[in-house]
Amino acid sequence: MSEPVTLGALTIAEALAPAPAGYVLVAFADGALGLGAKTSAALGEAAGVIPRAAEISAFKGKIGSALDLLAPAGLDARRLLVLGTAPEKEGGKTDYLRLGGLVAAKLGKSKNARILFDFAAQPEDFATAAGDFALGLRLRSYKFDQFKTRKTGKDEPENGGPVDFRIAGAEAAPIADAIAKVSGLADGVDLARTLVNLPPNLLYPESFADKAKELEKLGVDVEILDVPALESLGMRALLGVGQGSKRPSRVVIMRWNGGAKDAQPVAFVGKGVCFDSGGVSLKPGAGMEDMKGDMGGAACVTGLLHALASRKAAVNAIGAIGLVENMPDGAAQRPGDIVAAMSGTTIEIINTDAEGRLVLADVLWHVQSAFKPAFIVDLATLTGAILVALGQEYAGLFSNNDQLAQRLTEAGTQTGEKVWRMPMGPAYEKMIESKFADIKNTGGRHAGSISAAQFLQRFVNDTPWAHLDIAGTAMSSPTGDLNQSWGSGWGVRLLDRLVKDYYEG
Ligand code: BES
Ligand code: MN
Ligand code: ZN
Repeated sequence: MSEPVTLGALTIAEALAPAPAGYVLVAFADGALGLGAKTSAALGEAAGVIPRAAEISAFKGKIGSALDLLAPAGLDARRLLVLGTAPEKEGGKTDYLRLGGLVAAKLGKSKNARILFDFAAQPEDFATAAGDFALGLRLRSYKFDQFKTRKTGKDEPENGGPVDFRIAGAEAAPIADAIAKVSGLADGVDLARTLVNLPPNLLYPESFADKAKELEKLGVDVEILDVPALESLGMRALLGVGQGSKRPSRVVIMRWNGGAKDAQPVAFVGKGVCFDSGGVSLKPGAGMEDMKGDMGGAACVTGLLHALASRKAAVNAIGAIGLVENMPDGAAQRPGDIVAAMSGTTIEIINTDAEGRLVLADVLWHVQSAFKPAFIVDLATLTGAILVALGQEYAGLFSNNDQLAQRLTEAGTQTGEKVWRMPMGPAYEKMIESKFADIKNTGGRHAGSISAAQFLQRFVNDTPWAHLDIAGTAMSSPTGDLNQSWGSGWGVRLLDRLVKDYYEG
């Protein structure tokens, strides 16, 4: 990963001062090509080129469009970049998060930029707008290039030096404050992305656990359970998945205690299959490399705990991740095996490639019995079938609790990390009845995501619970204004928002 971009705050007056390396000056124009008053004053005569250039390039101030100008005489900047802010729908609101992403995109390789955060119509809530904007800049600027040894010219900042974006306002302090408030969240998303992007020879259960341990620096309690500890808890379902791998399994429990001393915690559980070959039920070779991302749920939970701790969220939160590698070898689990989960439920293994539910079964059970949380949300790249049902736009939501499902749906709308609720019920539970054990780990050809969710539900009793199937959203998702990386970091913003809006204070 390249160094994260440095964001800083300036006053608009400071933004116009000369800089030895030169810089790109960014300004905003609305649908009538109106500039902010401070921007007009700062640009002076130079502002005069904007309407003429706009006419030539048919620039109408729509969000997503830009005027890229050689900086007019009188400015120290090298380029003057004018971005449109007019919402796509008339009467709509400017999306400052997206605008941040668009600015980062339009800046391209010119990484020394000063942005006049000033508009013809000031945002209703300046602090939120500035925070969203800063977050968008950060999210779009993420790059995973640590294994590229030959940097092409394309990757080098045009004007040298460290990547540096300065956001300028009438006063610097409120902007500095807004940047500080979102930087932990941006770091959490970046962390989740990097964990998903890292190759499986480097990111395996032990090394993932070591990375989670680093959250201690932020005040998170991190407990790593090794194989003997998992044996004594009776996590045979989880251990069965890892037994064909040279890499020993781990469960990591992260605890952020930002709430009242005795307040009931909220809990997040993540599937952390660091590589899913399918095991003895081996997957086909084509595309198997993508299964390094089968720990996307665990990555999200780790990124979320990072974000909550960074912003000192007023909540007690638990993040629990089951880390295994699913490999075929002489010691591997077989189809036909029967294992007893920590809960006592016996499971017949039909397909060793349906391993995520086995890992989650034990972690869910442990979390609900050890911590009695107010709710559990689990995240898992659980089924290919969720891609068939929902594609890559929505994650599948399965829940035993309408209020929790509703809150997740609302947080999804607010953040753009959207979830779509899927049905559950006794008729689907029939699909996982086993001839020889209590349940089996696959449910047949139809409704594969639902039978997987029914399986998980067996391990949560009455705890309000929601399962997010993120096989379509955590990795290889379409790139967009906020993300260009294979690992998307999906879910960190969603769950940070869920906590912030409903469970803090
Ligand atoms: N990790 C996969 C699901 C997956 C597929 C994630 C594509 C991301 C992209 C999971 O462990 C799996 O193999 N599921 C099987 C279940 C089946 C054997 C019942 C599947 O979806 O085919
Ligand atoms: Mn699998
Ligand atoms: Zn898997």
